[in-house]
Amino acid sequence: MSQTLAIIKPDAVGSGKAGKILAHLEDAGFTVRAMKMVRLTKAQAGAFYEVHRERPFYGELVEFMTSGPVIPIVLEADNAVARLRETIGATDPAEAAEGTVRKLYAESKGRNAIHASDSDENARAEIAFFFSRSELLGLD
Ligand code: RTP
Ligand code: MG
Repeated sequence: MSQTLAIIKPDAVGSGKAGKILAHLEDAGFTVRAMKMVRLTKAQAGAFYEVHRERPFYGELVEFMTSGPVIPIVLEADNAVARLRETIGATDPAEAAEGTVRKLYAESKGRNAIHASDSDENARAEIAFFFSRSELLGLD
């Protein structure tokens, strides 16, 4: 078993799709290991997406991710990182496969409903970004 981080983004939380997306993830075989709802500051969202700082969409991305509450979720499954990327679909919903979370629930390439970690190393760092050691241990 391995873990990854999903974040239900402000567009999906605001349009009342969080429950459907969580059910989709559970139906896809993931176990929820930790979850919370938080409103990110600009500094937090900027740090989370630090890798994209030089990209043209960075400012818009930070604006969007701070526009309302988000729901970070620690998910567990065999090969969790790759399986979650497959379950959520391509970044742009127009290019996402049928039946994926982004195909079903994303509005656009920017407002695309959900985040997923893209490597085991980033999953560990992103889980630690949102959840303390005691929060994670407390669930065992
Ligand atoms: P994420 O990190 O949120 O799971 O998304 P991703 O790996 O599929 O895509 P990534 O390249 O890491 O981009 C991060 C997020 O930035 C926004 N974005 N907007 N307007 C644009 O061209 C554009 N490109 C990326 C999206 O919200 C994307 O998920
Ligand atoms: Mg990414």
